[in-house]
Amino acid sequence: MKDRIVDKLRQYRDLSDAQLRELIKSPAHDEALMQAADAVRREWYGDKVYLRGLIEFTSYCKQNCLYCGLRAGNKRAQRYRLSEEEILACCEEGYRLGYRTFVLQGGEDPYYTDEMICGITAAIKERFPDCAVTLSIGEKPRESYERYYRAGADRYLLRHETADPVHYARLHPDNMSMENRRRCLRDLKEIGYQVGAGFMVGSPYQTTECLLADLRFLQELQPDMIGIGPFISHKETPFKDEKNGTAELTLRLLSILRLMFPYVLLPSTTALGTIHPSGRELGLKAGANVVMPNLSPVQVRDKYAIYDNKICTGEESAQCRGCLERRIESAGYRAVTDRGDVRRAKSAVKMEE
Ligand code: SAM
Ligand code: SF4
Ligand code: FES
Repeated sequence: MKDRIVDKLRQYRDLSDAQLRELIKSPAHDEALMQAADAVRREWYGDKVYLRGLIEFTSYCKQNCLYCGLRAGNKRAQRYRLSEEEILACCEEGYRLGYRTFVLQGGEDPYYTDEMICGITAAIKERFPDCAVTLSIGEKPRESYERYYRAGADRYLLRHETADPVHYARLHPDNMSMENRRRCLRDLKEIGYQVGAGFMVGSPYQTTECLLADLRFLQELQPDMIGIGPFISHKETPFKDEKNGTAELTLRLLSILRLMFPYVLLPSTTALGTIHPSGRELGLKAGANVVMPNLSPVQVRDKYAIYDNKICTGEESAQCRGCLERRIESAGYRAVTDRGDVRRAKSAVKMEE
């Protein structure tokens, strides 16, 4: 289907602010966007879908983000921590299932000192030298990021959450700042990590202007990975009565991101699978090329409750593996067993005036 704006975005990887606003707001371009995004992901990554084994190793968090069920202020949250041995056992199972990237994610939990994080990272790299280790443990001083990198961590996921300062302040308590979040992302890039940024879709107070700012911020940062998923309310947070983000807008943004950043690693997230029964399959069709199956031990899964009704909390890792394989195939793609590093960005074609 011919669509002038979509064709232009595909060609130049960029548009004017007015044209981007139009794409974000209007469903009229959705079909053309999805087709173009799928064509571009196939040019860059074929039909491959990369698997990342997600180990949610601590549900303790000292922060108080207003949207998140793990926030320190949620006194009803069930908290747990995994030991190094338990984490390694998850990796063992993940390796058997064909995963070659392990993502260690958790709340900001001071129980895990830098030394412990380095020890766990080094132990995984020693036992599984052909695997990548991704950390996603929040905001830290540069020196900590440097230590984890020296211990062998390859990648770091830290969503910027929103690039609009007023919106940022409405989602976070006063002790958190957009400046520090950005400082972290800059440090991580300079140190040499493959870096993932991203944001929630449909978070409270988010406007089209916020999303436009997110896209412009990502152009500046040039991350290797971009994680987006719908906001889903959690009943024990200040946002308990807020509306969830939609699958429709999340899919539209996935396609826009694929066209703006053809090389990027783009997950089809669990949150998307939570708000729509075939959300993850649709995410792949809209341009995503990564899925992050849960590898955490089944007995702790429902305790990592970032939002309500999260899927995959009752299933064993092997069940999720089989289920995902079928879903990926039904969408017309192929799950692959390799590290799936980013294909380096070729610079964008300059846009005509
Ligand atoms: N603590 C680390 C951090 O904040 O970067 C990593 C864990 S945190 C739970 C991972 C991501 O979950 C956040 O970056 C946020 O975008 C997402 N998240 C938190 N609450 C959410 C909610 N209610 N709905 C959807 N996503 C949410
Ligand atoms: Fe903690 Fe991350 Fe949740 Fe914020 S989003 S409360 S830092 S786990
Ligand atoms: Fe976990 Fe389907 S992917 S049960």
